[in-house]
Amino acid sequence: MEIVLSGIRPTGKLHLGNYFGAVKNFVKMQETHNCFFFIADYHSLTTHPKPNDLHGIVKQVLAEYLAAGLDPEKATLYIQSDLPEIAELYLILNMNAYLGELERVTTFKEKARKQPENVNAGLLTYPTLMAADIIIHKANKVPVGKDQEQNLEMTRTFARRFNRMYKEDFFPIPQAYNFGEQLVKIPGLDGSGKMGKSEGESNAIFLADDPKVIRKKVMRAVTDSGPTKPNQEKPEPIQNLFSLLKVVSKPDVVDHFDAAYNNCSIRYGDLKKQLAEDIISFTEPLRDKILSLSGDEVAISKAARIGADKARESARKTIREVREIIGFRPF
Ligand code: TRP
Repeated sequence: MEIVLSGIRPTGKLHLGNYFGAVKNFVKMQETHNCFFFIADYHSLTTHPKPNDLHGIVKQVLAEYLAAGLDPEKATLYIQSDLPEIAELYLILNMNAYLGELERVTTFKEKARKQPENVNAGLLTYPTLMAADIIIHKANKVPVGKDQEQNLEMTRTFARRFNRMYKEDFFPIPQAYNFGEQLVKIPGLDGSGKMGKSEGESNAIFLADDPKVIRKKVMRAVTDSGPTKPNQEKPEPIQNLFSLLKVVSKPDVVDHFDAAYNNCSIRYGDLKKQLAEDIISFTEPLRDKILSLSGDEVAISKAARIGADKARESARKTIREVREIIGFRPF
């Protein structure tokens, strides 16, 4: 069976954009592929050397992915730092990663520009750590966004280089997995762009938001003064509200507001009220699960342990073979 692997940045709460983007596809893929999903907490030290409550954030992310439907019995869901084997493979790969090629990576250049006071070696070798993440389980497919394609290309370079150096066809060369059609783009509430793109809290609806917060955010969403002629094309902020309505509301609700827009009788207040209530009904079961899981230390630690055990078994096997190939053999 094909091995699919993806890393999750522990940056915070899941919003509807994450949910309808990657997360829902992960949940589907765990039924048909051998999936490894992990929370990339080693990586977070490249930008946050002294993270504020890393443990708490990782726990929240774990609770939210479990609530969204990732099943520790189906997928291997683990925390990166539970696998010291990744750190070992990272060290080995770094011995054959060149300064020039690492410096040319766009994400490195961007981050170096953003944090000139902290251009650390971890930032430079982010692609080798990512390569270690991927090839430690001999993954074949990696669902990544456009921004990660160059990092994945580096993974292929490092895997090929290892294979060539040791004259073995040892690591499979991983390919990007494109969700294509299945990837539903969710717009933000601030009138333009994707949800989560801008930093403002009010641009995104988080799965864990309570109904009061959801109502407030939706009612404040950007609109305009309304259509003046029948069947006008919808400007972006209005189209965005309709896109949201499409994923959470019944088709006849969408049709109703569409017709009202087209005959200029629409009242955005009504549209927003309906949208808020439909988002609330949609997210309610998820919110309940998140709340009960984040308070359930036993369930969280059990899930983390199952994941770490499964992932380590696979990682240990690779490291054993790598050590043998390189010549690190016991006397
Ligand atoms: N770099 C990825 C991101 O920023 C996260 C990540 C770390 C990752 N290791 C990975 C993704 C391995 C895919 C495979 O989103």
